[in-house]
Amino acid sequence: MGDLHFGTGSHIFYRALFKSINKDAELVVMCGDLTTRGLIEEARGIADAVSGLDKPAVAVLGNHDHEANNQEEIMDILEDAGIHMLERGPYVTEDGKVGFAGTKGFCGGFLNCRIAPFGERILKMFINETYRETNRVNRDLKSMKADFKVVAYHYSPVRDTCIGEHSEVIPFLGCSILSDPIDTFKANLVLHGHAHNGIEKGQTPGGVPVRNVALPVHNKKYVIYDTEDFSSSG
Ligand SMILES: [Fe+2]
Ligand SMILES: [Fe+2]
Repeated sequence: MGDLHFGTGSHIFYRALFKSINKDAELVVMCGDLTTRGLIEEARGIADAVSGLDKPAVAVLGNHDHEANNQEEIMDILEDAGIHMLERGPYVTEDGKVGFAGTKGFCGGFLNCRIAPFGERILKMFINETYRETNRVNRDLKSMKADFKVVAYHYSPVRDTCIGEHSEVIPFLGCSILSDPIDTFKANLVLHGHAHNGIEKGQTPGGVPVRNVALPVHNKKYVIYDTEDFSSSG
């Protein structure tokens, strides 16, 4: 699931939702924009809502979760509630079968039209943020030992899943740089959010399946994926 945009009034709905996930899933992945305005009380609301979840949960933050500059405290609150924040390190299931690496990611555009670190200092700083986020996933995938590797981002690593969005906004929905470690270390599946008006399915240049789990893309509040359906990838 992605883009919960938890805010005032979300509490009762999400408490019931997380409880209902128990019967459907073995593990929950949350792909950022967990809050609406990055407020501490919104994070506390999520922490309370997940108290009914008895399955492991991993998450990355989204741009909305950075809005009030509370990102470290939000991660502390969510970790205290039992959600493993991938920004702080990878997660591997107890049986060693499935591993998760991830981070928020950042934007910059796709393929030959992506921003290059050239010219003005401010533009280099902008795209260096994307490289910095990508390097975290690179490091975590490199060290990960798991049969099936999942990468979770908020921003999209491919243009495919942004189809349907206005063309002017697409460079701000993700960046091809994010797909480099996925193909280098042959991950099996990539999940992301942020592209609310995009489509579900895409793939990296190396053929790794990408799934956009932003809630508005789906007519349900979470999507179930079975690792068996992706085990030939990567
Ligand atoms: Fe969002
Ligand atoms: Fe977002």
